[in-house]
Amino acid sequence: MKKILITGGAGFIGSHVVRRFVNRYPEYKIYNLDALTYAGNLENIADIESSANYEFIKGDITDADFVNDLFVKHQFDGVLHLAAESHVDRSITDPLAFVRTNVIGTMNLLNAVREIWKDNKQGKRFYHISTDEVYGTLGAEGLFTETTPYSPNSPYSASKAASDHFVRAYGETYGLPYVITNCSNNYGPNHFPEKLIPLMINNIINNKPLPVYGDGKYTRDWLYVIDHAVAIDLVFHEGKNHETYNIGGFNEWQNIDLVHLLCQKMDEKLGRPEGTSAQLITYVKDRPGHDLRYAIDANKINKELGWKPSVTFEEGLSQTIDWYLQNTDWLESVTSGNYQKYYDQQYQ
Ligand code: NAD
Ligand code: DAU
Repeated sequence: MKKILITGGAGFIGSHVVRRFVNRYPEYKIYNLDALTYAGNLENIADIESSANYEFIKGDITDADFVNDLFVKHQFDGVLHLAAESHVDRSITDPLAFVRTNVIGTMNLLNAVREIWKDNKQGKRFYHISTDEVYGTLGAEGLFTETTPYSPNSPYSASKAASDHFVRAYGETYGLPYVITNCSNNYGPNHFPEKLIPLMINNIINNKPLPVYGDGKYTRDWLYVIDHAVAIDLVFHEGKNHETYNIGGFNEWQNIDLVHLLCQKMDEKLGRPEGTSAQLITYVKDRPGHDLRYAIDANKINKELGWKPSVTFEEGLSQTIDWYLQNTDWLESVTSGNYQKYYDQQYQ
């Protein structure tokens, strides 16, 4: 039985990846390592917690001794690394937290696999899940390709870029069998409501102002999270070692248009008169260093591995809104406590 470690599997994307691997690969034992920070929630994966091929390990990747002991004990055959501090706004107020988890944490994992795989790299793979934000920002034209130079603008993207560079360097220097993907903005169930789409959904439900940064003309390329999980599965199994693949939704939206679309859909689903939620839109102070536009050229993964998004934005957004409306307990539990403190500081 192959032993596969997934880090950050109690978070948004990680929970969808863990579920997919546990259900699809009974021949693998899936270990989910997560520190359960504010962003990690075991309720996200409650449906698979008693599966025979699944084990949860609570632990912090910044703790090198813990990580080394864990790898020596389990001798993992593969690692899918998703654990990270992931929110740009939080990286602006506390950059060091991002260095600790995203850079040092990744280094600890790299050092651990370097040691346990030093004599036999056959069939082993370290898969680093990264972001398109490492490329910086686009103007009105063009797309990010795998050869776009790195030019990160936020402490979050700088920390992810640093970790990508270390993964690549371990490949060159120590022969680490690795693969990296850089993906665009995900959306879907279990997305923590500090990020644009779930924050707007939560605020619409609660009739709270909808804070749009700057002029709202910033553009993101949105991908349904389950399509990302499918791509991750494919790259883990069929991607080439020492390669990078960009993943995106072919689905660009200016923030303000997306917020209007959400308002319209939520009014329909909540039975409110058309135009009710849009009245909550409030322009607020811009994010410092705000990247204007992200858009992915996902032709490499499409041509080489046959991946493309399967869910239209219309379907994905509708399913996402339905999930939040059916899971108000989840929303309430993740927005109680420290969330309120964060929210007041961020949107004061
Ligand atoms: P998330 O914030 O929802 O989840 C992160 C998870 O990592 C949480 O469960 C948290 O508890 C865990 N974690 C954080 N610090 C840890 C530590 N020190 N030790 C162990 N576990 C720790 O993040 P997400 O949005 O699911 O993103 C997952 C990965 O995908 C990240 O690496 C992120 O950079 C990347 N990514 C995200 C997106 C996106 O749109 N969300 C897009 C592209 C790439
Ligand atoms: O591109 C991939 C990245 O997408 C991931 O690597 C990150 O982990 C993920 O958080 C996301 O980063 P963004 O900064 O693009 O996502 P966020 O949801 O924070 O913001 C999306 C856009 O909406 C951005 O232009 C900022 C804007 N925004 C965001 C919030 C939270 C607002 O206008 N108002 C808000 O309240």
